[in-house]
Amino acid sequence: MKPHIRILVLAFALLGAIGIAYGLNILEYRQNEGSARNLPGTVTTGEIQIGGAFAMVNQNGETVTEKSWPNQYRLIFFGFTHCPDVCPTELGKMTQALNLMGKNADKLQPIFVSLDPGRDTPAALKEYVALFNPKLVGLTGTPEQVETIRKAYRVYAAKVGDGDDYMVDHSAFIYLMAPNGDFIDVFQPDDSAEDMAKRLALLIK
Ligand code: NI
Repeated sequence: MKPHIRILVLAFALLGAIGIAYGLNILEYRQNEGSARNLPGTVTTGEIQIGGAFAMVNQNGETVTEKSWPNQYRLIFFGFTHCPDVCPTELGKMTQALNLMGKNADKLQPIFVSLDPGRDTPAALKEYVALFNPKLVGLTGTPEQVETIRKAYRVYAAKVGDGDDYMVDHSAFIYLMAPNGDFIDVFQPDDSAEDMAKRLALLIK
């Protein structure tokens, strides 16, 4: 082979290798992105069974169910009012995303569900939700009612510690549900308020 042809062949081989490596990287990136979206347990995108019937008590002491917001998309987050970091961060982010959406945010009902019915009375929730967003609804109930909605949304929660100072370890997904109660999408702690606002604008009609 003449030297200049050999160089050409090498150059093409190198370009090919870069192309393959690049393609593989993209594939791997897509796969990672896909798996990061998956929820704990055996849930896979496309066949997600999240949501369902519930009866809870809101911050004003009124009973509400999954049918209480027939014309609203819902953004639902689970936590507890004594949470030192995750809940304030995520609820703050949810509020910020709604603010970024302007008028479109009117189609969304933000909801905070307590995983700590022992301490989170309607009165405690009323004070708490007001810190974030005047539109934010707080839900609590009997331990059985909370367990029903927790299971329906496949939320992880575990009490840690004893006495009055216990904590509740919990998953930190924000669920987007349709006005008819169907699951649409989930936001994670990694998603910024800007990410959320952008995706919400595409997802709600
Ligand atoms: Ni929390």
